[in-house]
Amino acid sequence: MTSEYSHYKGMCFSPFSTSVETLTFVENEFQVLDDDIFNVVYPKSGTSWMIEILSLIISGGNPHWSRTVPNWERVPWMEILNMPEKLQTVSERPRLISSHLPFHLFPKSFSSSKAKVIYTVRHPKDVLTSYYHFSTMTVYCKKPESFEQLLQDFLTGDVIYGSWFDHIRGWTSMKDQSRFLLVTYEDLLKDLRGSVVRICKFLGRELDEAAIDSVVENATFKIMKDNKMANFSLMPDELMDQKKSPFMRKGISGDWKNHFTVEQSERFDRVYWQKMKGLDVKFSWDEE
Ligand code: A3P
Repeated sequence: MTSEYSHYKGMCFSPFSTSVETLTFVENEFQVLDDDIFNVVYPKSGTSWMIEILSLIISGGNPHWSRTVPNWERVPWMEILNMPEKLQTVSERPRLISSHLPFHLFPKSFSSSKAKVIYTVRHPKDVLTSYYHFSTMTVYCKKPESFEQLLQDFLTGDVIYGSWFDHIRGWTSMKDQSRFLLVTYEDLLKDLRGSVVRICKFLGRELDEAAIDSVVENATFKIMKDNKMANFSLMPDELMDQKKSPFMRKGISGDWKNHFTVEQSERFDRVYWQKMKGLDVKFSWDEE
């Protein structure tokens, strides 16, 4: 099985995960609630990591929920087939919701709500590297002919959920709103504890030191890799074949250096600077 892409308003998506009807429903009819908490992430940038952090914070540091319920049920993806309808019937509050959608395709009801968004961004060359390995093991992505082919598709936005550059531009337009928190994968790697404290503050959750320690410990790469509720090993091989590449693959920054040629890296940089021109946000990798 392999995924050919479908399109919604110019954005590629996999028919194994969503549909034009579902995306239309999400955009026009899904009702965002004021106490919703969104985990918004471009694919391969730390979505599952933030799910773990959020689940643990909401549980006051108790890992029971994270160890007994799959991550896609704890913080489900809003735009997955049948999910928006299901989310409308959920009675627990707050709802914790993941999404890969770009800003302009988010529910219309979001703009007038008070819902909070945690937006996680990762160095785009590492995103592409992670994406490359992911596409070799999952039905949700088209198998690229080569790394070079995927690089070209990434730069033109012909990948699931569209252009990384548009995603960043769209979501960071909220950066001055108090209901928006920008987190980077690199911050999480460098200072997980400090990031957890920041997220707790943003959510208005007061956790004592022991609870924060537990969030940090249970959201480490090693613990998540061994947790079948977080490592996607409960997914059937037809959807994700972890013999080809594990979902919890390396969990580091800078692996792109093992994949890009000098020419590819320079070409990527040229497109990056052209597309990010005028953006009022600086990332740690902009200094490299
Ligand atoms: P790699 O393929 O580079 O290892 P997403 O959840 O958005 O699909 O992102 C998956 C990427 O996040 C993978 O990157 C995965 O290893 C990494 N990841 C998930 N949990 C992590 C953690 N606790 N620490 C570091 N990286 C993590």
